[in-house]
Amino acid sequence: MAWRTRKDGRATRRPAQRRSAAKPALVPRRVVVTAGPTREAIDPVRYLSNESSGRMGFAIAEAAARAGHRVTLIAGPVALPTPKGVRRVAVVTALEMLRATLRAFRESDALFMAAAVSDWRPARRLSGKWREKDKGSPAANLPLVRNPDILATCGHDRSRPGKLVVGFALETSGGIPRAKRKLETKGADFIVLNDERALNSPRASALILGGDGTVRRLTDRTKAEIAGVLIGLLGRP
Ligand code: C5P
Repeated sequence: MAWRTRKDGRATRRPAQRRSAAKPALVPRRVVVTAGPTREAIDPVRYLSNESSGRMGFAIAEAAARAGHRVTLIAGPVALPTPKGVRRVAVVTALEMLRATLRAFRESDALFMAAAVSDWRPARRLSGKWREKDKGSPAANLPLVRNPDILATCGHDRSRPGKLVVGFALETSGGIPRAKRKLETKGADFIVLNDERALNSPRASALILGGDGTVRRLTDRTKAEIAGVLIGLLGRP
């Protein structure tokens, strides 16, 4: 509260300023965002991974922080700077991302799962180089085991009522039916569907499919614009 001094020396309260009264009331939320790829080591020098620049997740984290939310960004190996005001947790593998996400999700109000998580990891990480090539065979087999689905684990978490869960789907074909299935199988409130043109690009087109049947189409927008729309989902009553 501001004060001013009258001519007679007594202090009076200054009337509230209009500008501050016009500001929207913001309820800060604890927001968790995942971004970038995960890497699954085959041996000390080789790994399996996904194509992902991390830009979409970083844009969401930045938009959330700018809107006044408390943001934890769980990022796979990408060389992007951490947006201002964001707490970054660096991970490499899907199992590390799972652990960090579950820990942050427990204390959060919303999860945006933009990371390109590797679905598989080598059944074992070799301590020395994989020498399959030395056998002279034109083909090789690499045993893989499935990684946990982080989004589905959080989406089906029984302690989650009231928490917003948003996943992504990058599809090369059959996008809408696949994304609709993901809403159910992963227990997400929304799935953001895009295609491979979004990879490594500052722009993308996206369909935001809601579990309530809503569909919002965003055509050729910057990732910052898409992030702004997604952060708007936090404003739902
Ligand atoms: O099944 P698909 O990989 O297309 O699903 C994409 C969505 O699921 C993304 O939100 C991604 O972050 C998430 N996901 C995950 N854990 C996995 C695979 C995908 O959380 N192992």
